[in-house]
Amino acid sequence: MEFTVKSGNAEKQRSGCVVVGVFEKRRLSASARRLDAASDGLLTSLIRRGDLDGKLGQSLLLHNVPGTLADRLFLVGCGRERELGDGQYVRVVAHVLRSLQNTGASEAVSYLTELNVKGRDTYWKVRQAVVSGRDAVYRFDRLKSKKPEAGRALKRLTLGVPSRKELPAGERGIREGTAIADGIELTKDLCNLPANVCTPSYLANQARQLAKQYASLKVDVLEEKDLESQKMGAFLSVARGSREPAKLITLNYTGPKEGPPVVLVGKGVTFDSGGISLKPAAAMDEMKFDMCGAASVLGSMHAVATLELPINVVGLIPSTENLPGGNATKPGDIVTSLSGQTIEILNTDAEGRLILCDALTYAEQFDPVAVIDIATLTGACIVALGKHGTGLMSNHSALAHDLLTAGRYADDRAWELPLWEEYQEQLKSNFADIANIGGKDAGAITAACFLSRFTKKYHWAHLDIAGTAWKSGKDKGATGRPVSLLVQYLLDRIGH
Ligand code: BES
Ligand code: MN
Ligand code: ZN
Repeated sequence: MEFTVKSGNAEKQRSGCVVVGVFEKRRLSASARRLDAASDGLLTSLIRRGDLDGKLGQSLLLHNVPGTLADRLFLVGCGRERELGDGQYVRVVAHVLRSLQNTGASEAVSYLTELNVKGRDTYWKVRQAVVSGRDAVYRFDRLKSKKPEAGRALKRLTLGVPSRKELPAGERGIREGTAIADGIELTKDLCNLPANVCTPSYLANQARQLAKQYASLKVDVLEEKDLESQKMGAFLSVARGSREPAKLITLNYTGPKEGPPVVLVGKGVTFDSGGISLKPAAAMDEMKFDMCGAASVLGSMHAVATLELPINVVGLIPSTENLPGGNATKPGDIVTSLSGQTIEILNTDAEGRLILCDALTYAEQFDPVAVIDIATLTGACIVALGKHGTGLMSNHSALAHDLLTAGRYADDRAWELPLWEEYQEQLKSNFADIANIGGKDAGAITAACFLSRFTKKYHWAHLDIAGTAWKSGKDKGATGRPVSLLVQYLLDRIGH
């Protein structure tokens, strides 16, 4: 789907469909008022009759409205005018895009950009329309043998901006929104692929493909023998039960400006059965999503490379399956991590932290300004925050603040949990330097405490995306989070 911007009045658009907002209490948006005047009060009379009351999520499709040049007019309820905030705007856009998929119109002009969203400018509204619009129409049907026909679907959406002088901001919104949406789409596709297709080798090939596409990206893949000579005992202990070879993927983006890089570390467990500490069968299929952190790193790097951002970024992806087998790690086994610290593996299902800790030590060599790991790390994070917010834990308050701010701006929110010293006690082991689990209390925090033992040499933040990376139930599928947050954080860093 293609997005463009233009300025011009709603009643003058020769289009398959014109979209305007209507608020509760019979209040019309500016463009709705113009259409109302052009059509001799058609909109006000429909509202008076009760055909539309402006509630959020409500809508009405009209054909051949007199006094206008479009084939269709789509009126969409935007709720209370005073309360139009980020989340509401995004929901309205998503509703419009989904509805327009089956009206028969192949292109449309939307006037939602003129709506007043608290504290947001044209650039934001356009960018967000592209990102949430593309999100709303995303389908993953490449593995269905019969593809649903796409004949009638909407192909182009033009966003009407209030004046000509807003066009440059709008165009920047389109360009950056498209790059972010492309990154999100790559992330979703990789996450949605089943584990028999999306293996560690598959992820490595994806990284290689990105490096082929962009001269600014260089890839390096360490094989198991390399991991052995590097002495990544923690990472390798997870890979032992699997026949798929583990990989440590490094994707290095060099932008048009020198300086130390931001390192993004993504958990790439392409299937998490739990290992010998086997998970129960219910919903185990969803553990194909245990590589969403890795996919979000690839998606973010894709966006960064498209936008040619003046910043340096290293993506690090430790990738393996976690399966039981005759050679698999057993509860009680003790392994030595790359850092030299020994780990007693009391539960083989706490594998994410084992692969991440070696990648985090490996990250030291890049002399990073900041290291951010992204991981579907704990069910406990879902208990704490549900499916709406990503868990954030950090050893540096300015970094935490920047990530929280970026998440709010990009409508991809995170919430901070404390990393107090007191929690560290839960990781005591009688036989090794540290245990890989911290008991039943504060599971999201003790997982981060574990990682914090390996991140003392730099500023570090941990994003637990267990609740936010995918949806379950009838809408089962990846969300592409937290690509928006990460790209926004990088944009903020360069003072964009
Ligand atoms: N990948 C899981 C975390 C997870 C579980 C994400 C459910 C999303 C939904 C992780 O590897 C895991 O199994 N964590 C354990 C840790 C426990 C053994 C300390 C968990 O959360 O149960
Ligand atoms: Mn696990
Ligand atoms: Zn896992």
